[in-house]
Amino acid sequence: MISIQDLKNKIKKFPRVKLSFLPTPFEKLNNLSAMFKYYNIFIKRDDQTGLAFGGNKTRKLEFIMADVLHQKANCVITWAGVQSNWCRQLTAAAKKLKIKPVLLLFKKPAFSKEYDGNLLLDLILDAEIKIIEVEKEKKTMELSDVKDFVEEIVKKEKQKGNTPYIAPIGGSLVEGSMSVPLGAIAYLEVFLELYEQTMAEKIKIDSVIIATGSGSTQAGLIIGAKLLSPWTRIVGICVSEDKETMRKYVKNIIEHTLSAINIKEKIEDKEIIVFDDYLKEGYGVLNQEVAQAIAFLAREEGIFLDPVYTGKAMAGMLDLIKNGYFREGENIVFLHTGGTPALFPYREKFISFLKKKLG
Ligand SMILES: Cc1ncc(COP(=O)(O)O)c(C=O)c1O
Repeated sequence: MISIQDLKNKIKKFPRVKLSFLPTPFEKLNNLSAMFKYYNIFIKRDDQTGLAFGGNKTRKLEFIMADVLHQKANCVITWAGVQSNWCRQLTAAAKKLKIKPVLLLFKKPAFSKEYDGNLLLDLILDAEIKIIEVEKEKKTMELSDVKDFVEEIVKKEKQKGNTPYIAPIGGSLVEGSMSVPLGAIAYLEVFLELYEQTMAEKIKIDSVIIATGSGSTQAGLIIGAKLLSPWTRIVGICVSEDKETMRKYVKNIIEHTLSAINIKEKIEDKEIIVFDDYLKEGYGVLNQEVAQAIAFLAREEGIFLDPVYTGKAMAGMLDLIKNGYFREGENIVFLHTGGTPALFPYREKFISFLKKKLG
C-alpha cells in the first residue's frame, strides 16, 4: 500500500495545464438505489469536467497538452471515428492553447457525414478535418493502422513550417509523440479523487462500472484501486473490442503506467475485469437495450448518457444487477465518462426504439 500523499506526489511530477473543473461531482442515485434495494448506486460525473461539453478526455488532455507544449509543438494530429468525443475535446483544448488541431476522422457507411453531434462541434471549433471512408471501423485504431495517413499529414504540416505532435487515439497507448501513458496517469488520479470523496462520506467502494474503449480509463483506475483500495473491482464494459483484446490493451497500458510512476506491483489478468457481452452489433451501433438504458437513467435521475459508451455501460450494469453479479449490500459507482453530444445524430434510432412520436 502507498499513502495518498505519496501517490499525489508521484502524479504531481507530470506537467499539466488546467482544462477541467475538478473534482467532478459524486452523488447517490437515490431512485435507482431505492429500486434495486439490495445495492447502493452512486455516480461520478466525469461528463462534467467542463471543457467543450466535458468527458473523460479533458482530464487526460491536461497532461497530454502539457506534453505538446513541452515538446514545443504548434500542431496536434489525432484520429478516431467521425463522432469522436476524444477529437472534440482535443480540438477544444488545442484551440484554448493556440495550437492547431488536425483530425483524421474515419467514417463507416452507416454513419452520417452530416455536421451533427461531435462533428458539428469540431466544425465550430475550427479543427482541420480529413474524413476517410472505411467499410469497417476498428475502434481502437493503433498508430500502425493509420500510419500512412498520419505520415502524409505530418509531412504537409512540416512543409508549412509547423512542428506536429502525434497524439494516440483516446490518449491511451504509448505511441506517436507520447512516451508516457498520460491518459492512464489522469485516471489513476480519478481513483484517488473518488477514493477521497467516498472516504469523506464513509462509503467503501465495492465496484466501479465504466465503459472501456481505448483502455487508459480502466488501466488508471485499476492501478488506483490496487494501490489504495484492493477490494474494489473496476468493471469495464467493452464498447468496441472483445474482452481478450481489451484485456491486452489495458494490461499493456498498466505496465507502462506502473513503470512511469516507478511502482513495482503485479496486476494479474483476472484483476482486469471486462465484459464483452454488451458489444452486440459492435462499436457505435445503438440497440434497443442501450436506448432503453439511456432513457431509464434520464427518466429516473435526470441524467443523460451517450449512445456509444456510457449507454452501453449502463445497459451492462443493469444486466449484471439483474443476473446477481454484485453481492448484496454493495456500493456500486457508475463512472459517467461523457459523450452526450453524440446523442443527437442518433435521433432516428431513439425515436424508433422508444416508440416516441410528436402528438
Ligand atoms: C464518453 C466516453 N466514455 C468512455 C470512453 C472510453 O475511455 P477509454 O478510451 O479511456 O477506454 C470514451 C473514449 O473515447 C468516451 O468518449
